[in-house]
Amino acid sequence: MTGLSIEAATSRVEIAVRGDDGLRAHEIEEVGHGHTRRLTALIARALGRAEVRPTQLSWVAADLGPGSFTGVRVGLATARALALASGARVRGASSLAALAGSTSARRALICPLVPAGRLDAYAGFFRADARGAVSLLAAPRVGPLATIVQAIREAFAAAGTANVRIVGPGVPRWREALERSFPGATSPEWRFEGLSALDLAAAALSPRGPAAGLPAPGDETQPLYVRSAQAEERVRHRASAAEAPVALRPFRVDDVPAAAVIERRVFSDPWPESFFRGELGHPQVYARVAERGGRLAGYSVAWLAAAGGHLGNLAVTPEERRRGVARALVEDLLARARALKTESLSLEVRVSNFAAQALYRTHGFRLAGLRRGYYRDTGEDALVMEWRPKGA
Ligand SMILES: CC(C)(COP(=O)(O)OP(=O)(O)OC[C@H]1O[C@@H](n2cnc3c(N)ncnc32)[C@H](O)[C@@H]1OP(=O)(O)O)[C@@H](O)C(=O)NCCC(=O)NCCS
Repeated sequence: MTGLSIEAATSRVEIAVRGDDGLRAHEIEEVGHGHTRRLTALIARALGRAEVRPTQLSWVAADLGPGSFTGVRVGLATARALALASGARVRGASSLAALAGSTSARRALICPLVPAGRLDAYAGFFRADARGAVSLLAAPRVGPLATIVQAIREAFAAAGTANVRIVGPGVPRWREALERSFPGATSPEWRFEGLSALDLAAAALSPRGPAAGLPAPGDETQPLYVRSAQAEERVRHRASAAEAPVALRPFRVDDVPAAAVIERRVFSDPWPESFFRGELGHPQVYARVAERGGRLAGYSVAWLAAAGGHLGNLAVTPEERRRGVARALVEDLLARARALKTESLSLEVRVSNFAAQALYRTHGFRLAGLRRGYYRDTGEDALVMEWRPKGA
């Protein structure tokens, strides 16, 4: 099957054309900020050199980010347009998963770094096992050197691996500082430092899915920006400030049928109604529902005692997402935990659940461990995250 791979997430753009007989053409150009101007010309040149017509393409691979906002958008839009015109399928992979998948490492935490403009970098977190198979470890982060070093330390402790490998185009400008914190981690032998259209194609065509940090079926063209545009944030916060407030109240047994409907919509391994009923009867359970405009918008179920607590379930209906419902539930839970002088609160979250990890992180939860193959439906790992009251 013939395909085209577009790697445009940094200023160094690569286009590769691959046929059944291997690589047919490979174009590399430093485009600066000229993604819009140069990409189509480079694709036309690569297809010409490969002697492939667009109608012969069965797949087009694009980098979903994170990286240059413009590069990711132009690359993805071009891949979609080409696929629409040629009948090819668009396949995407994140820049971080493409880098991690092509790194040679065993029993290691793999952290791909991609420049994020100004003085920041995007960092990914993956784990290579004893045979070199790579799995996702945690949601990507973005920030300056100090934030990223701290994030790597936290992920390293949670993963319990023997080594750290830091790779990718974000490494060169921080190499000295990274080496001071993680000696030997940035050695060029782990892989070359740019993003490659060939690595991207390998990741985009892999069937491994979310457990490896690759898109789930149906999400192959969803960009991964990690940091939303400031304008988007402003509009979202202004819109949610004008809405009816979220009201919290105790979760009652007569809420169970409605909660179970949300549960089945939201999770691939939903709690059955009988489980909710059993939990609500438990003396240490602290369970709340959130309503907006009198309608059930979300719920949380936790166990709280002075010695420790555990958040067992938290969900928000898809229509109410990004409007502060989970924030209200988590803030209320943490207030209760503080009042009870709970020493720590833990939870498990899928390694691919970036939204939930971001939510917990903004409320002070940190990575505390890994449960391998915890989710039976997909075999995905669970991250253990933990919150402790300030000063504990
Ligand atoms: C995870 C989930 C509970 C978040 O609920 P929500 O009501 O949309 O979250 P909120 O609007 O209160 O967001 C609070 C903060 O969490 C983070 N966050 C939430 N969703 C996010 C997303 N999709 N991407 C990035 N950050 C996100 C942000 O920091 C956000 O603050 P901001 O809006 O000021 O940027 C919701 O997506 C959900 O129900 N998912 C499916 C079920 C699930 O995953 N439950 C958790 C199991 S461990």
